[in-house]
Amino acid sequence: MSSLDAIAGTARSGTLYGIGVGPGDIRYMTLRAAGLVRSVDVLAYFAKRGRAGNARTVVATLVDIGKRELKFEYPVTDEIRVADEGYRAAIASFYATTAQALRDELVQGSSVGLLAEGDPFFYGSFMHMWRRLDKEFPVEVVPGVTGMSGCWTRANAPITWGDDVLAVMPGTLEEQCLTDRLAQADAAVIMKVGRNLAKVRRAVAAAGLMDRAIYVERGTMSDERIVPLGSFADPVGPYFAMVIIPGNGRRL
Ligand SMILES: C[S@@+](CC[C@H](N)C(=O)[O-])C[C@H]1O[C@@H](n2cnc3c(N)ncnc32)[C@H](O)[C@@H]1O
Repeated sequence: MSSLDAIAGTARSGTLYGIGVGPGDIRYMTLRAAGLVRSVDVLAYFAKRGRAGNARTVVATLVDIGKRELKFEYPVTDEIRVADEGYRAAIASFYATTAQALRDELVQGSSVGLLAEGDPFFYGSFMHMWRRLDKEFPVEVVPGVTGMSGCWTRANAPITWGDDVLAVMPGTLEEQCLTDRLAQADAAVIMKVGRNLAKVRRAVAAAGLMDRAIYVERGTMSDERIVPLGSFADPVGPYFAMVIIPGNGRRL
């Protein structure tokens, strides 16, 4: 065993692992995350219907041929508003079924690694499994470099200076709510931009922050795109996109 493998450690039977895979570039994964991807009996991940799954794509080069895998395809993603009753019902039932599939593996003694983009405890679907299974089975959560950390690093934009207060918000909020929150923030990160891009752009402009706003698509990935938010007019962005607004605080 190499010293890196010894540091990373291996998986224990009957344990659920929430594995944060970081922002996209596999080199930003932790040693523990990489060790677990290789050592768990079952590798599980969420994916949009018909897609490979973002977190699974990140770890592709670490997965041995023949590895047992569980792919959980969301019944709906961003085609319905989260507030819609249809969305809530479909997702609740999906999460219940998914938790049961994981439970079935864990009771048989398998170690299961559920992949999470970025950090599992930061807007992660993993949290919905953690909530259902944490009292029943041993669970270890492996923190990851968040997507926003990867994005402001790649944009070469230090995010908070001095006493700056950072506000993180989802682009799914109502436009006025976004504007109000942004107007109060020294620095901001707007997640889940995708279909909300036009609304987010209007809110940033209304809050008077357009000159500092940077749009980052697929940050740290091979096809990343980093541009001033005000410099392009696309009405919709991909799922993996966010807007970062660096603070203006104390420079010494
Ligand atoms: C459900 S949240 C998951 C966040 C993740 N757990 C994390 O720690 O970053 C998904 C949102 O994260 C943001 N995101 C995560 N990684 C990103 C990346 N590499 N580039 C751009 N946006 C990213 C996007 O706004 C996306 O809609």
